[in-house]
Order: sequence, then C-alpha cells, then structure tokens
Amino acid sequence: MQGPTGCPVSHNAAAFDPFEGPYQVDPAEALRWSREEEPVFWSPKLGYWVVTRYDDVKEIFRDNQTFSPSIALEKITPPSDEAVETLKRYDYGMNRTLVNEDEPAHMERRRALMHSFTLEELEHHAPMVRRLTREYVDRIIDKGEADLVDEMLWEIPLTVALHFLGVPEEDMDTLREYSIAHTVNTWGRPSPEEQVAVAEAVGKFWQYAGKVLEKMRQNPDGHGWMKYAIRRQAELPDVVTDSYLHSMMMAGIVAAHETTAHATANMLRLLLENRAVWEDICENPSLIPNAVEECLRYSGSVAAWRRITVNDTQVGEHFIPAGSKLLIVSASANHDGRHFENPDDLDIYRDNATDHLTFGYGAHQCMGKNLARMEMRIFLEEFTRRLPHMAIVPQEFTFVPNTSFRGPEHLWVRWDPARNPERADPSILERVQDFEIGAPSKHDAARTVRVSEVVQEADDVIRLTLEDPRGRPLPRWSPGAHIDVIVGDYTRKYSLCGDPDDTHRLQVAILKEAEGRGGSRFIHDTVKPGMTIRMRGPKNHFRLDEGADRYVLIAGGIGITPILAMADRLKALGKDYQLHYSGRSRSTMGLLERIERDHGPRLTLHPGDEGKRLDLPALIGSCGDAQVYSCGPERLLSALEELTAHCPDRLHVEHFTATETTLDPTREIGFDVDLTDTELTVHVAPDETLLHALRAVGVDVPSDCEEGLCGTCEVPVVEGDVDHRDKVLTGAERAENTRMMTCCSRSRGGKLTLRL
Ligand code: HEM
Ligand code: FES
Repeated sequence: MQGPTGCPVSHNAAAFDPFEGPYQVDPAEALRWSREEEPVFWSPKLGYWVVTRYDDVKEIFRDNQTFSPSIALEKITPPSDEAVETLKRYDYGMNRTLVNEDEPAHMERRRALMHSFTLEELEHHAPMVRRLTREYVDRIIDKGEADLVDEMLWEIPLTVALHFLGVPEEDMDTLREYSIAHTVNTWGRPSPEEQVAVAEAVGKFWQYAGKVLEKMRQNPDGHGWMKYAIRRQAELPDVVTDSYLHSMMMAGIVAAHETTAHATANMLRLLLENRAVWEDICENPSLIPNAVEECLRYSGSVAAWRRITVNDTQVGEHFIPAGSKLLIVSASANHDGRHFENPDDLDIYRDNATDHLTFGYGAHQCMGKNLARMEMRIFLEEFTRRLPHMAIVPQEFTFVPNTSFRGPEHLWVRWDPARNPERADPSILERVQDFEIGAPSKHDAARTVRVSEVVQEADDVIRLTLEDPRGRPLPRWSPGAHIDVIVGDYTRKYSLCGDPDDTHRLQVAILKEAEGRGGSRFIHDTVKPGMTIRMRGPKNHFRLDEGADRYVLIAGGIGITPILAMADRLKALGKDYQLHYSGRSRSTMGLLERIERDHGPRLTLHPGDEGKRLDLPALIGSCGDAQVYSCGPERLLSALEELTAHCPDRLHVEHFTATETTLDPTREIGFDVDLTDTELTVHVAPDETLLHALRAVGVDVPSDCEEGLCGTCEVPVVEGDVDHRDKVLTGAERAENTRMMTCCSRSRGGKLTLRL
C-alpha cells in the first residue's frame, strides 16, 4: 500500500486506528513504535499524516502559517441531512473562533480578548472555584464511595466556565444542559437518530447563548470574559463582531469544560494508582502545582490536535504536500525521551514538566491554561486534605472513542468515612493552601528527605547523607549535579559528592561560611541525624563531557564536591586526569582522606599554609589541549576565565554566587520584546525582570535559581542588543547573540526579538 506521496505504508501505520483499543487506552504507549521507528506516517484509516515526536509536534504548533489550524474543530462524523436541516431551523451560525482561525484575524482577536486571562484577572475567580469544589466534596464526603466524574468532575469545570464567562446564575442550568450536546456534535460519533436529537440541543444552545448574551449587554460591567468582550466590541466593532461574540460564547464553554473535566479525572486516576506519589502530596501540598503539570504531561486530556498544510512542506524528513491533514499527537510528544528524561516515569519533581504540549504551543496556545491549572490545583488540594485515605476501586475504564479528548467516563473511588480527618479535627477544613496563579514555581517542587548521617569532614565542613523517609530510591544524578537544600527559611545549593550508583543515598558537603548570608551557619547549627529536611533536584548545570582524552580538574576549598564526583567518574572510565585541590590549610580541606585514598597518584594538594600555592598560569600553560573543569571561589574562576580567554571551549566552571541581581528601577530602563511564536509584544518595566513580564502574559518560561547561575530560564534570541548579566554564557556565546537568560539579562536599549 502507498501513501499520497507514493511512499510505502508500513504495517504499523496501516493498522493504526485512533478510534479503537490501544490508542483510546493509552495513546502514548500505542504510538511508541512510531516515536522510535517512524515519527511521521500516513494513516490510511484516518486519511491524516500522524506526527509523534516532541520536536516535530512543537514545530508544527509553532508555525501556524504553514500549518493552519482551520480544521481544528472539523466534525469527525459528517452531519446527516436531517441534522443539517434541524440546525438551520435554529439559525445556527457558529463561526470560526480563535482556535481554528488563521492570521491575521486570529491574532487581532486574541490580543483584543486576552485581558480576562491575565494572572490578576484570574485571581478574581479563585474563590468561586474553591467554593464550588468544597460544595461538591461536602456532598460526597460521608458516602464512602463515589464516581468522581459523574458526581463532580464533569459539572464543576462547566459551572466554572459559565462563571468565567459572566453568565447570570439563573441561566446556568439551561446552558449546562445544552452545552453537553455540542461536544457530542463535534467530537463524537452519534448515530443518525442521535444526530437529530443532538442537533436539536445544539440549536437550542445556540439560541439560548444569544439570549444570555443580550442580557449581558444590559450590564456588561464586571469580570466575566464575555462582559469584557462586549466592552471591547464598543472599541473594536470590526474585530469583535456580533456574530463573533455569539460564537465565542458557545466555544468558550466548550473549550473550558471537557478539557478540564477529563484532565482532572486523568490526574486523580494516575495519582491514586501511584499511591506513594499521592501520599507525598497529602503530606506536602506545596507539591501540587508541579504534580498537576506532570499529570498534564503524563496523561493529558487533549491527546492530539489537528492542522492542515497551506504549502508543500517538510516534517522531519518527510515531504508533506499542500492540503494535507495532520494529526499531531501531543500525548506521544509528551512521552518522547528525546525531550523528557525517563519519560515513562511519573515524576512530580520533574523540572521541565511545563514543557508538555497538552495546551498546544505558540500563537494558539490554550488561553485558558492558567484557569485550568487553578481548577486542577484546587481540586487536588481539597481531595488530598479532606480525603487522603481515598482509594481507587478496581474497575474497567471506558473512553468515548475520538481522536483528541481523553478521559475516563467514570472514576470510582472508595474510602472509610469514619476515617475522614475532618471528623477528628474540623480545623483541617480551614487549613486551605492557595497557590499563585500561573505556571508552577520551581520553588515548590521540593521533596522531603531524612538526614541519616552528619559527619565532621574538616574545620567548618560537614557532610550530610540524605535518604528517602520511606526507604524508596532517590533520583539518579551525574557528576557535577547539585541539589537545593531547604532548611528553615534558607535554600542553598550544594553539589553532590557521594556515589551516583547508590540510589538510596545522596551526599553533600557543606562549608560554614562565616561571612555568608547565614544559610550555611543555620544548617551547621540545626541539622542533626534523624531530622527531615527538604530538597529540590538533583539538577546538573555542570556536566562532564566524557568524550575528551585528557582532563585537568581544579578545586578551590569546598568547590571540591562536584570536582570529586567528576574525578571518581573519570577514574572509573580509565581517563587521563589530574586533580588539583587548593585550600587554606589541610585542616580546612574537606573529604581529604577519601580523596587521597581514591585519587592519590593523580592528586596535587595546594594547602596555602604549606607554601604550596596553586600556580594557575603555569598549570594552564602546561596542560595542552586538556579539558579544564573547575569549581571554587569567584577569584579562582575569574582567573581561569582570563587565562583561557583564547580557548573558552576548554574551560568548564560552575559559579555559585551571582553578581548583583536586585533591580534598581532608578538606573534600569524599560524595553519592548517581540515574541515571534506567540506573536505578542511585551513591555518590560524598569522594575521587573523579563522572566516576570513573560509570565504575566502567560508565556511559561521555566526558572530555577533566578540569579543568572543555572541556565534554566534561557530563551532563543532572534535579534537585539542584549545586556547579558548571567554567569552561564561564555564570552563567545554572548557574542553569538542567539540566547539569553530571562531572569537577569535585559536590553541595552532597543527592542529585543525572541523566538518564543
Ligand atoms: C486552545 C487544551 C482548558 C480556552 C486550546 C488548545 C489546546 C487546549 C490543545 C489549542 C492549542 C493550539 O492550537 O496551540 C486545553 C486543555 C485544557 C484547556 C488541555 C484543560 C486542562 C481551557 C480553559 C479555557 C480554554 C479552562 C477557558 C476558557 C481556550 C481558548 C483557546 C484554547 C480560548 C483558543 C486559543 C487560540 O487559538 O488563540 N486549549 N484547554 N481552555 N483554549 Fe484550552
Ligand atoms: Fe537560573 Fe535564570 S533561572 S539562570
């Protein structure tokens, strides 16, 4: 069999059927073969090209000129003549609305209607979501058993959507009833008889939506999205037309309802099936925002989306002719190991979970994502606080057959009401935890660990051994990686220096810094064996390239920790390496005994008080083409940077102290940034970071240190005069002007253009 371009269709491609079995149960698993062998294929059963790898799916979302979204809502089942007639009787006139509009109309309208989705506006809806969720949990709390989908998850997002739009309370019940039919109309496979009934309901929905809109026009003040749109219409009558408003009203309800209901059902199922993860969240609710994000990645509610090519083009290595329809499978992209480490692990501490494509990407990326996140966080917070003992009932899950929306039709759970925590302690009802609106903050995803050992390694240096309190394995790490240790109000970064193959223990060595900001002193004074503390990571921004032949490792003081892990690794690989370790005196140099034992022949010690100072110019002058890795005080690293200025690629350093990152608005200037993928222009005020300004308009940029040290917040630069203030990029990389760190770097004056 051949595809439309004459290429042979493989056996797997011919067999692919998104309306059946494996794809409905687990789309990512059903397409594993494709990610591995045939990332772009023609599906004869669907008449679509199917795209399954992360980079390809993202690229298609990004380029909405070549890959038009105009078919995004095309009916999966063509309507019968009778159904068409029925809709006509109701003057049904649904137009294109944002998600399936082409440019330039789409962006004009998106910009005009965006305000209601800003973080400040969404704040106004949080108490309503909380109230609704509590009311629904109250209804089931003493029952001991519930189908969460039927009894709350289906209804709450719909009611939230109606509130978000500004629909008067008295009209909600009628709209709720009709809107469900719309979903079946677009995505389902109704039989010919059902089609007429569905068309009746959709027609009524259309008419009723029009009436409600008219009512809102009488008093369009307040926070609802449609009320805002009505106010905008007065200013931009050609952009926000009457018929557009009418269509948007219906489309808004649909966009916000099923997506969120399914996403929540998927999330609760996944977490309850992974009991240890559920228990971690019950114990530590600050994990909720990142857990929600990881569930959206692992088991999102929009499994695939559609685009049609406007020109002949390429996807990966495939030629795709103009007019081809594409099914871009975000559920598969989200499990692509080329982008996500261990993609099939559910890891609520994952630091790039927000990169998932469940909300799409680019100019059409879901406008409601922060409303959906808010709802999912509140649901999870209420459930884990009030029903931590809830368990999933063994059951067969069923899904409505369709290409795109995915969530179980029922989700049965059971618990013993006698054990409801609020019966013993009603005050838990008040112990609500609210989360900031927007992408999850990296600062929340911290795990609890037990300190199993505290060893005095040298004057003012202790070594901590950390274990999981339940004896579970800890995440894997590689030499150069660090963790954030959180004790009291202090968060400090420490490199790992134990054995990477020991999956049950992590080790860090900590110097008590007399002149520091107090964190290391606090840790030295308070941390004792048996205590639990919190940590984030491991993360590695100081990776060892194992491909070189020769290495020179240079450690100053406590900078020995990542360097020792590298030395261990190089020894295990049988590489040629030298290790230089300098310090004030032997008594201040941590881990000395072990280093001398394991690396004796390769080691040169430089204790200052013995007159054995490290002669850096001589060392660098004599080390030929060896790769140099160094960690230590800033003056050591700056000296090395100067000495290797002619060959910056050979030097690898890790800074632990940032330059000044506090903004002084009297000296800073504001600037504009054009975003090519999102098609927005963002103003960065003198007193805010670029990172903050991007997040305020809903562009999720991950961050970690927020001090210019780690590289997590890097974004691609297209053009502009960047004032680089980070410690990540080398001089040569700055000169290339292709990337920048948004947490600290700014513009020197003019506009910047970023590929975001
Ligand atoms: C668009 C997913 C919740 C409003 C989209 C798109 C996806 C999506 C995949 C298309 C993106 C693209 O083409 O790049 C989801 C998921 C949700 C969710 C998974 C819940 C977990 C919501 C909510 C609202 C909403 C609560 C609130 C009104 C919209 C709108 C668009 C959109 C207006 C069109 C944006 C445009 O084309 O410019 N959503 N959505 N969504 N979504 Fe959501
Ligand atoms: Fe670490 Fe910006 S978040 S460099």
